[in-house]
Amino acid sequence: MKLLEARFVTSAADARGIPADGVPHIALIGRSNVGKSSIINALARRTLARTSAAPGKTRLANLYRFALDGGPGGPGRWSVYLADLPGYGYARGGQASVAELRKIAEEYFRGFEDASSSPSALRGVLQLVDARHPGLQPDLDAATWLESLGTEHAVLATKVDKLARSERDRKLKEFERKLGTAALPVSAASGEGLDDLWTLIARLSR
Ligand code: GTP
Ligand code: MG
Repeated sequence: MKLLEARFVTSAADARGIPADGVPHIALIGRSNVGKSSIINALARRTLARTSAAPGKTRLANLYRFALDGGPGGPGRWSVYLADLPGYGYARGGQASVAELRKIAEEYFRGFEDASSSPSALRGVLQLVDARHPGLQPDLDAATWLESLGTEHAVLATKVDKLARSERDRKLKEFERKLGTAALPVSAASGEGLDDLWTLIARLSR
């Protein structure tokens, strides 16, 4: 799989801001500071998304468009939007609870309901969780909500570079037990898991 293009497109303020150009979308959700923007930059292999040590920077759905060649589904050019949604579960920000994410995400999802005005489709949601902290309540709440949506979804365990081998296997097992699904370990810092992540994105969007 070859990356041909990666660029920031727009900050969508509401459902009407979702580009209606037929290119599939994949949404990234996760607690503030979990590494959503960093993983987008790692996939782009350059800085497209603003990252911060201070949580709660993303206020809208920031849309990034990627073009690739090949991968699962065979040869040829394909494109996908990755949507960076605001983080949830950051108490000090006041408004970033799972309930707040829900409101924002539901508005974002509405952009795909009327197929005549928006031929694009939401193909999947990637839930990012911090590999070091299995079973945090906001993550469990968000997972339950995702399940109820009926949209394809997968879990990424971020920042695995921060875990020793032995610890990592234990944590991943714990995630699987608590979320009912295996998490894909990734690191924006070391690049680990990014090939598998691209394979997952291709499988969801091609
Ligand atoms: P919000 O936009 O506030 O919701 O946060 P976010 O989920 O976009 O997190 P962001 O990508 O801004 O990363 C938060 C912090 O974690 C930054 O200081 C990053 O450098 C750090 N970080 C992100 N990914 C990794 C990783 O894979 N490994 C390590 N060691 N640090 C990471
Ligand atoms: Mg961010």
